[in-house]
Amino acid sequence: MAQINQNYLKLPGNYLFSTIAKKVQVFSEENLEKKIIRLGIGDVTQPLVPAIVDTLHKAVDEMGKAETFHGYAPEGGYEFLRKAIQNHYQKRLVDIDLNEIFVSDGAKSDSANIQEIFSSNNRIALCDPVYPVYLDSNVMAGRTGNYQSDLEKWTEVIYMPCTAENQFIPEFPRKKPDLIYLCLPNNPTGTTLNKEQLQAWVDYANKNSAVIIYDAAYEAYITRENVPHSIYECEGAKTCAIELCSFSKNAGFTGVRLGFSVVPKELKVEGVELNALWGRRQGTKFNGTAYIVQKAGEAVYSRKGQEQLKEQLAYYQHNASLITEGLTKAGYQIFGGVDAPYIWMKTPDQMTSWEFFDYLLEKANVVGTPGSGFGPSGEGYFRLTAFGSLEDTKEAIARIQRM
Ligand SMILES: Cc1ncc(COP(=O)(O)O)c(C=O)c1O
Repeated sequence: MAQINQNYLKLPGNYLFSTIAKKVQVFSEENLEKKIIRLGIGDVTQPLVPAIVDTLHKAVDEMGKAETFHGYAPEGGYEFLRKAIQNHYQKRLVDIDLNEIFVSDGAKSDSANIQEIFSSNNRIALCDPVYPVYLDSNVMAGRTGNYQSDLEKWTEVIYMPCTAENQFIPEFPRKKPDLIYLCLPNNPTGTTLNKEQLQAWVDYANKNSAVIIYDAAYEAYITRENVPHSIYECEGAKTCAIELCSFSKNAGFTGVRLGFSVVPKELKVEGVELNALWGRRQGTKFNGTAYIVQKAGEAVYSRKGQEQLKEQLAYYQHNASLITEGLTKAGYQIFGGVDAPYIWMKTPDQMTSWEFFDYLLEKANVVGTPGSGFGPSGEGYFRLTAFGSLEDTKEAIARIQRM
């Protein structure tokens, strides 16, 4: 008799974005004349830049001719892309071997899949609030114990609250974790750690034989000098950290799909190289990313690509600073938004995250994301994104100021 993976039944429904969509739909049906501005979901809105579009066209043409056609991609990704990635790291004085880079279809899959190479007995530590994929993938793998619905917490997960009280800096947990997920710059709080703060985590992981899974999906948004773009800028990170990167937010690839992981050869658990395990996992379960997409990824790092993307990033960063300034002026307490496309705000007058969602929708016709959807410590906070158009962003700010 077939049996299901019971762990899936333990997952509480992820109602966050479907609840938002339903509420917005009801509101718009009842208020047909009102223009709703969506600053909720973390998807980009600007089109691919010309350097990438040109490369995609050329690559498609290559696929249409027998002499330049490409079938399955090599395991780990085409060398041309891995070399471009390697060069990008070298600009930050980080040396990565080509065989330490694994090209993928994005950071979501990598951040969900990476836990497979670790024992199901490993205890995970998560920032709270957090990108939900880290938790849910570990629930599916049976690593999280039981869900306590009153606390909205799992019994075997170590939660590291990140709130205004600790400046959104996760504290070393009292219980010893085996796997530590860090997402910096952070989704949803838009905050980050400086080099000394991240170095302390690297030292902690090395001392406690823990592995850090470092999600750097938003590194391109970093503006401050002392904020590392890669965990490997910290000393000793190669013996304790895996880094996950994405082309979604730095190059607008959310619908194109491309990312990569870095697993250093020095990183060993129980004497076993994680690089080899991850290579085995990917070789068995993943058949690579399309040639045309990998060519587009190479174009991201080209001189033209970098110039054009700098402008695109500046567009979103400008939105972020407008939201920060505009809402601060309106009296809100604002966090993040400097090194990240996310603005994290404290809800006013002790409102819950959902109460503020309804209030904002009703009064300003603006949609954001309730912070409580990212974990219990997100309660009382609210996320806005800088990924809207400039016009919408300005209009949303003006409406919130008038509220
Ligand atoms: C922290 C974080 N990691 C990963 C992803 C997904 O990245 P990708 O589009 O490369 O799968 C997201 C998307 O919002 C994210 O916020």
